Amino acid sequence: MEVTGNLPQHVAIIMDGNGRWAEERHLPRIHGHQKGVETIREIVRAAREFKIKYMTLYAFSKENWARPKKEVDFLMRLLGAYLDSELKELETNQVRFNVIGRMDELPKGVQEKIRRNMQRTEHNRGLFLTLALSYSSRVEITDAAKRLCRDVHEGRLRLEEITEDRFQDALYTRGIPDPDLLIRTSGELRVSNFLLWQISYTEIYVSDKYWPDFKKEDFLEAIQEYQKRERRFGMTERVKLPHG
Ligand code: FPP
Repeated sequence: MEVTGNLPQHVAIIMDGNGRWAEERHLPRIHGHQKGVETIREIVRAAREFKIKYMTLYAFSKENWARPKKEVDFLMRLLGAYLDSELKELETNQVRFNVIGRMDELPKGVQEKIRRNMQRTEHNRGLFLTLALSYSSRVEITDAAKRLCRDVHEGRLRLEEITEDRFQDALYTRGIPDPDLLIRTSGELRVSNFLLWQISYTEIYVSDKYWPDFKKEDFLEAIQEYQKRERRFGMTERVKLPHG
């Protein structure tokens, strides 16, 4: 399926509602996460098909560590299994795999699989897929501020040289354009500490569906809704979408 018109270059997604999807079916929450992985697979394939260049998925927040140990352990095992099972598909589908967040807080085995997947796909140019893991936007911004302060303190950088661009380069997302479209599932109207700097001018689309029920057609609908919007970037005139 081909999508024409102004495509969002970068789509970011807050995948929410796995737990509620399972609870509504009187299933343990972990079934929702399992089903959520299937949705990731479908949406990543669709992104390739629609020729989206960048996709960033909020897979595990820093706050998620506070969930019951059993659920966290399950999510980490699921993540490890996902990293193994998807590698071949990522390689053949020209997907470049990337992770943002405090990777050092993840189990060692998971870190190794992440490094392996990143290395094995680093030459792919079809879709730049980023998973946010142990991610917190406030931590990201604080870390960036610390790094710049250290550079000034140690004489590598002058205070006047700290510009928006320089700050952006100190974030985990260095080199990745800001998202054009942010999708959140399960109807919540929150940004939940996700890419706070990067979504300053991003169009937000909220779907009422739980993540496990979010399908390719729903993704297409979000893109079509994006295509109808005017993006003004703070100006008064209609601005032509930058990535048409
Ligand atoms: C939210 O559902 C989802 C997450 C914890 C993040 C997304 C996780 C997956 C799609 C599955 C795991 C995938 C990997 C690769 C680890 P929720 O539990 O917050 O749902 P609720 O708000 O209904 O409780």
